Amino acid sequence: MPNIITVDGPAGVGKGTLCKMLSTALNAPVLNSGEIYRSIAYNIYKLKINPKHISKVTAYIKNYKYEKVSSSKLYSKKIDLISSEISTISELRKKIVYIQHSIISKNNDTNGFIIAEGRDMGTKIFPKAQIKIFLWAKANVRAKRRYLQVIKVNKTRVYEDIFNEIILRDMSDMSRKTAPLCPAEDSYLIDNSNLDIEQCFNKILKIIKKYKK
Ligand code: DC
Repeated sequence: MPNIITVDGPAGVGKGTLCKMLSTALNAPVLNSGEIYRSIAYNIYKLKINPKHISKVTAYIKNYKYEKVSSSKLYSKKIDLISSEISTISELRKKIVYIQHSIISKNNDTNGFIIAEGRDMGTKIFPKAQIKIFLWAKANVRAKRRYLQVIKVNKTRVYEDIFNEIILRDMSDMSRKTAPLCPAEDSYLIDNSNLDIEQCFNKILKIIKKYKK
């Protein structure tokens, strides 16, 4: 049975990059739960289902079978907002809990670690995980990092818009009734506002080394 490392935190805190680095260092697979929310958001968008129409989203999710959507389609402003919006729907979360557990059970023969990345991995999905990391950074720092990333591909984006989107997603992710974003009591809290990615990665690695078999 693999050991689960949960990595939770808000939008733009560097979870994706850090989990990829951890995956390489530990030779461990990553369960990227945000990608599941985003894949559903993308399908809903394509089918022109209004994400505010809870009964329509719930009806869609009933027969939904998870299929990975190409990441090039998942990381746009529109999908950011739709995925955050639909993540408040409890029927949808229930289905995703099931999908997440079945992905982990398929990786059951892994002897080392599995990294589970998201918002509620340590609190709700894997409450018994061996190592729980909760990443945090100030909203303006996260917005600046995002801005520097996106202007490389889209020169028209404005910092203030990205900052406002981060605030909006924080509010939605932290205030929803079901599984709001918050650190598990037994998690390691890392504020990386003043750390670069390497420094944050080394901090996490140091924690993991204490547990390594
Ligand atoms: O991690 P991400 O930015 O790719 O996630 C996109 C959205 O999906 C996020 O704003 C809220 C939702 N989400 C969630 O509610 N719970 C998770 N475990 C992961 C993502």
